[in-house]
Order: sequence, then structure tokens, then C-alpha cells
Amino acid sequence: MRIASLLLLIVFQLSCVNFHGSSKSETNFFSNLREGRSREDFHKVSSDGMVASAHAESSRIGKEILLAGGNAVDAAIATSFAISVLRPQSTGIGGGGFMLVHNTDANITAYDFRERAPGRATRDMFVDGDGKALSFTYNGKAIPNASVNGHLAVGTPGLVAGLIHVHEKFGSLPLNVLLRGAIELARDGFVVYPDLADAIVERREVLLQFEDSRRLFLPGGQPLRVGEKLVQADLAWTLEQIAERGLAGFYDGPVCDRLMHEMALGRGILQREDLTNYRVKMRDALVGSYRGHRVVSMPPPSSGGVHVIEMLNMLSHFDVKSMGFSTVESIHLLAEVMKRAYADRAQYLGDPDFVAVPIERLISKSHASAWVKSITNQATPAEELARIEKERTESPSTTHISVVDKNGMAVSTTQTINYTFGSGVVARGTGIVLNDEMDDFSIKPGVPNVFGLVGSEANAVAANKTMLSSMSPTFVFDNNGKLLLVVGSPGGPRIINATLQTIVNVIDHDMSLLDAVHRMRIHHQWLPDVIRIESLSDETAEGLKARGHHLEKITSIGDVQAIKVQHTSSGMSFEGVSDTRSNGQPR
Ligand code: DON
Repeated sequence: MRIASLLLLIVFQLSCVNFHGSSKSETNFFSNLREGRSREDFHKVSSDGMVASAHAESSRIGKEILLAGGNAVDAAIATSFAISVLRPQSTGIGGGGFMLVHNTDANITAYDFRERAPGRATRDMFVDGDGKALSFTYNGKAIPNASVNGHLAVGTPGLVAGLIHVHEKFGSLPLNVLLRGAIELARDGFVVYPDLADAIVERREVLLQFEDSRRLFLPGGQPLRVGEKLVQADLAWTLEQIAERGLAGFYDGPVCDRLMHEMALGRGILQREDLTNYRVKMRDALVGSYRGHRVVSMPPPSSGGVHVIEMLNMLSHFDVKSMGFSTVESIHLLAEVMKRAYADRAQYLGDPDFVAVPIERLISKSHASAWVKSITNQATPAEELARIEKERTESPSTTHISVVDKNGMAVSTTQTINYTFGSGVVARGTGIVLNDEMDDFSIKPGVPNVFGLVGSEANAVAANKTMLSSMSPTFVFDNNGKLLLVVGSPGGPRIINATLQTIVNVIDHDMSLLDAVHRMRIHHQWLPDVIRIESLSDETAEGLKARGHHLEKITSIGDVQAIKVQHTSSGMSFEGVSDTRSNGQPR
């Protein structure tokens, strides 16, 4: 699609946008809590270390590892395996992720165990001759969008390799001990909660196509309901293979054989060599600063760290604190800053092992200064910054885990299978939900994919390349250089902005961690040229419209899991907060 028709489409979409502020100043997520949850569930203070994750059980399992003498990496591994059982709609051993580890010697390392394009992937594999998204054919039936649904969407999974890699480097407890909690949850089952039930209904049409997906999540053709039990016996078997045989328990032997069998049935392109050749990549964490705070985040192939730092650099030119939270002025500024960073994202970001990403330039203070010159008190139309468009919807997928142990070792990790239930395929006999991370590539540069996303050549599909991500596991240090915050979120492109606003709320608005995570968020991703807003007063909405902004109401942005560290003369104390928008709980 040409830029002109793309812009026409956007103008049409905007004419349909009808945002009205509310007489109340903000949505109170606490008033919308699921039955049985209280405000206290989302907030915890402890001196024994802290685990914040998107389910109470995975946080409990991680905390038990800390109490049993495990370090932050041990706890993060146990929590990761557990959440992959508890949130099959979001993450799992069929997916991948990123992790930052802050060692007690203050060294920070970034681990990239994201999926990679299989060796047989080709640039135009998801589009037909006219540049339209191809369907995936299975059992003679066409399922729309091959980069999202079915076997071709699957990138080589990296999660198990990543967790085993960091275990070999830092782990202090045996791997099988760290897997125990997850194996029990898979074998004995757990009670289906509302978000899981909703996700099954949302993806039912695709899940129904694949035998094991149907058997697990829609037994008898009916979606599992809240209160029923989800037992994942095959997944328990797979996790046992990993507990017994480590890396070979997944990338070789019977699990690998079953994955290959599944690929043959679905005519996928993932081959045994892709699994055998999978390597975790160690990368240099990105370092920036904001009002005297060191900010450390994930480098490419995530775009997260680059743009969190780039936006903080732009914000540092303004007195954000005196603008106040959720005012016309502060929302206007955030939106302008987001717009510029996301325009850069669409233009420059991709796998640094394949394309030259100008990282140093994008996170430089001078680049931010240049952008800031174009910010006025009126909205800059997106097309003035336009080169190519990007847009994506949020799904209840992906998950973030923050951990700090009592010695100050910390882990910030975001993991995903991409869209809700990934490709929709559960590999027969393994319980593994296979990712659809291939959709994070631009299926064809300049052509919108199923989510309306258009990227540049930098993020085109290529064999063995890593698809661009927005996942932003981040650490923030205080003015004395001590660890202050561990933070991150799911939410597709909204990840970056949810992480940014949590940091700004703590540093500029002096909010408690609970408020910083809880208070309303906005999201602008350059194109479409619209500010997505969770809640706003009438007056502020009018003020923003008067400055030329287009507004759209959105139910929720992100699912932040954050920890704040307090350093006192008697040691450290940890405050954990799980996002009030979702199901998490800190322990
Ligand atoms: O890596 C990424 O940026 C995406 N695969 C993340 C997807 C996501 O967060 C889904 N939504 N909650």
C-alpha cells in the first residue's frame, strides 16, 4: 500500500474515533478488580527478596526458591517455567524472551533468547504476488494470516535454551529443583481464571483447528470455563524431560522428535537443525541516564531499550514534574515524544546481526535535542514525521517477571509466544504452545501485515534472523548508583510506553510504586496519529483536542511487574507491585 492510501485509511479511522473524557478524572482499576482480589494483593513489602509476576502461583514458586536459599536467577527460572504453565495464552517453552541480570558485583548482562527465523525462512514467505498476506492451509482448510496462525508462523523457540544458559552461569540450585513447581502445576492442573477463559474464547476458531490445542483448551469443542481445571499432562512430561536432560531434553531426543512430527503434519519449515543450532546471544545492555539516574535496558533485537532511553532523553529537556500528572501539558509532551521515538523505530530498528542499527545515535543526547526542537505546544501531524507506518493491536499475551534477592542480585525478564496462544498450535504429545513470533517481522517491507503494521527493510524476514521486539526489561539506579527499580511489561508496542511512564511517575511525579504502576497510561506509536488513553477528564480531553491531538479510549495498556529497592542503614527492603490491570501478585 502506498503511503498516500495508508494516510487516507488513517484519516478515515480517525473520523470514527470518538473519545469523550469522563467527569471522573481517572478510571479506578481497583474498583474493577476481579472477584476475590483486593488492593493489597497487588502490593507487597519484604526484606527477604521479591518476585513480581503475572500470576500469584508463579510468584509464590519463585519466592519459595528465594527462601530455600536460591538467588534471583534461580527464582526467575522457577517463576518463568511456572508462568509458562499458568499463562499458556501469553508465554511458554515454545516461545522466547530477553533477560537482564544484575549481578551482586554490579555487572549487568543482557541475554537474548528470542525466537529466530528458521533456516528455510524467506523474505516474502507470508505474502502473495500482490503483496497480500497469505493464508495457512491445514487439513484442506484456509486459515487467514499465515504469519500469525499455524505452523509457518513458528520461530525457533529459545526460552528453554535461555533459562538453561543463565542457570549454567548463575544458578545455585539444581535445575530439576527449579522445574518442580512448574511440573506439579502442569501435572495436577490449576483453576482456570477469567483472563485465560477469555483468551480461549478469543482464539477459539484457530485453536479448534489443531487436535491437541482443541483437546487441551476446548475439550468436547467447548472453551474451558472459569473454575474448571486445566491439566497439561503432556507439558508435565516435556518439563520432566528438561529437568532430567537439560538442553537435550528439549532440543534433541523425544521432545524434538515430536516437534518435528508436528511440523511435518502442518508442513511447517522448522527443522531439526534449527533446534540443534539454536544459540543464546549475550549482548551489551544499553545504558542511558535520566535526571541523574542510570537507566539500563534491553538492546536490539529489542527496540525497547533504545526508545525508553531516547524518550527519557527528550523528556529531560522539560520540567515534567511541574507540568503535573495527567495534565494537558504533560500528556501532550508524552505523546509528542512517543510519536518521534516510534517513527525512528519503524525506520531504523531490526536485528543488529543482520542490519546496521544506529543505536548510539538514537540514544544520544544530541539526537534527542534535535527532535525536541520540533516539539511545539501544538500536535505535530504524524505525516510530518512520516516515512512508514506501524500499528498493532494488544493481546493478552507476553509476560514480565521482576526479581530481586536479599543480596541485591536482580533479574528483569520479558517472555512471549507473541499473539494470544501464539500460532494456536500445540505440538502433539508435548503440551507446547508454539509461538507465532514470525509476525514480528515486517512480512514485506512497506506492506501492512495483519495488524496494520508496516516496517522497513531493517526488519524484513530472513533465514536465521531475529524478529524485532518491543520487550523492554529495564533497571533504574538511584542517584547514588544503587539499584532502584526493576520494571517491564507485556503489551506489544505499548510495552515501551508502559515502562517509560512507570519510570517517569517514580522519578518526576514522586509517586509511590503502587501509584506509579496503577495510574492511567497513554500510548502513541506515531501512526496511526492518535493518543490511546485509558481515562481522562472532559477538561483535559478538550485541552488536548485544542492542541490538535486525536484521542481514542483504550481499556488498558500493559501489565507492569515492578520492584523498588529501598537502601537503608540496616540493609535493603523490597517493594513489589503487580499491575492492577491484570492477574499478577508480588511475593
Ligand atoms: O516481542 C514483541 O514485541 C511482541 N512479540 C510482544 C507481544 C505482546 O506483548 C503481546 N501483547 N500483550
